[in-house]
Amino acid sequence: MSNGREQWGTRLGFILAASGSAVGIGNIWKYPHMAGQNGGAAFTLVYLICIALVGLPIIVGEFVLGRKTQLSPVGAYDQIAPGSFWKWVGFLGVASAFVILSFYGVVGGWILKYTFASITGGFEALVDDPEGAGTMFNGIITSTWEPIFWQVIFMAFCIWVIVNGVKGGIEKWSRIMMPLIIVILVVLAIRGLTLPNGKEGLVFLFKPRFADLSASAIVLALGHAFFTLSLGMGTMITYGSYLDKKQSLIGSAIWVILLDTAIAILAGIAIFTTVFAMGADPAEGPGLIFVVLPTVFPQLAGGTIWASLFFILLFMAALTSAISILEVVTAYFIDQKGWDRGRATIIFGSVITVVGVFCSLSLGGGINLSAFLNMTFFDFMDYLSSKYMLPIGGMFMAIFILYRWGLPEFLIELETGMDGYKVNHWVVRILLSISAAVVGFIILNEIVDKIIGRSISDILFSASG
Ligand code: TRP
Repeated sequence: MSNGREQWGTRLGFILAASGSAVGIGNIWKYPHMAGQNGGAAFTLVYLICIALVGLPIIVGEFVLGRKTQLSPVGAYDQIAPGSFWKWVGFLGVASAFVILSFYGVVGGWILKYTFASITGGFEALVDDPEGAGTMFNGIITSTWEPIFWQVIFMAFCIWVIVNGVKGGIEKWSRIMMPLIIVILVVLAIRGLTLPNGKEGLVFLFKPRFADLSASAIVLALGHAFFTLSLGMGTMITYGSYLDKKQSLIGSAIWVILLDTAIAILAGIAIFTTVFAMGADPAEGPGLIFVVLPTVFPQLAGGTIWASLFFILLFMAALTSAISILEVVTAYFIDQKGWDRGRATIIFGSVITVVGVFCSLSLGGGINLSAFLNMTFFDFMDYLSSKYMLPIGGMFMAIFILYRWGLPEFLIELETGMDGYKVNHWVVRILLSISAAVVGFIILNEIVDKIIGRSISDILFSASG
């Protein structure tokens, strides 16, 4: 590009960076316990349908918008619809980045702490002691300084990668970490499968239990499809803006989706086979990783090594996602305000770290806003972003493409790099409309639930049986 904008080095580099954004805590922590608690394969099936029906059109839409404008979200909307209110959809994305990364950085800190603890053999004392493991986890997250210490280190890694730029930072580290993540997960999955009784974990994960699949689980699967693919915030618009015109965006999007889904399922296999082999509780929920696994790994021969591999893997997955969130903020200040990369990243990376400190302290280390928010500040940031900000951002992007930008223009950019292949405009129109409608429904559902205390999906579900 003549404007001197940074570009990805290779197509593979872009695919690894985008899937590095997608593969994160969502795949390795959230997906396995959500599937475990909500009907196993029944949940997975709904989740896969959401990915194909909503995830694919939205990710392609974001890539196209980014590559066309060569700008991050605010500038992208403003270039196509100059002076209109559409740029506020871009601002919503930048705001979501602050919200998500503040709590994501805190979890990143816990992961670093656990990585360190596992390498130094700190789990040995927890063998067969779930209560002790629970006490340890709670002790860490509710204390004042320890989680902040680790969170600051995690955010420093993040800032450092982003300061090094698109090719020299994001792409370079994604190329190193993504293959490592896959190798470690495959090794851990094979380890789990070859343990006595490990295969029971597969039954748990893959046997559909439709009775456990509630209406709210369906809404959960849809929201998760957004979160796990990093959609609705403009991450993929930003990553798409560093592309040249040579590749098929549909092809790349399919790669990202396949990698993201395969890694979530592999993580499920690695975790549940190990949990079943050791007779721990598979329905533990969110504590699965921080409470159950530390008691399970030390029971294995070479437990310290397995535990360390697992937490290193989790750290890398969290880091490649966290950098993609920070890049949205950095790119905004570079594109719209003319700042240089280093200054934008260090200043706003630090601001986000400070917001994150409040999230961390809200868990017991000193700040209690629960009476005011009805939940901790930490949970509030998660709730605000995944239930409202991301779906709203995604829905408006679909509406923008359909009614403001217009399909003919959109299709020209989409078909660029596809070697003359033509995409049927009805298919695109229908998929984008379904995405906007479905997402609109989730948001409405949530709002109705907040107001009358019962969601639409709940009412429909109990009416039909
Ligand atoms: N997809 C990541 C995960 O699964 C999280 C993430 C990164 C994200 N960038 C995002 C979520 C942008 C929403 C929006 O952990």
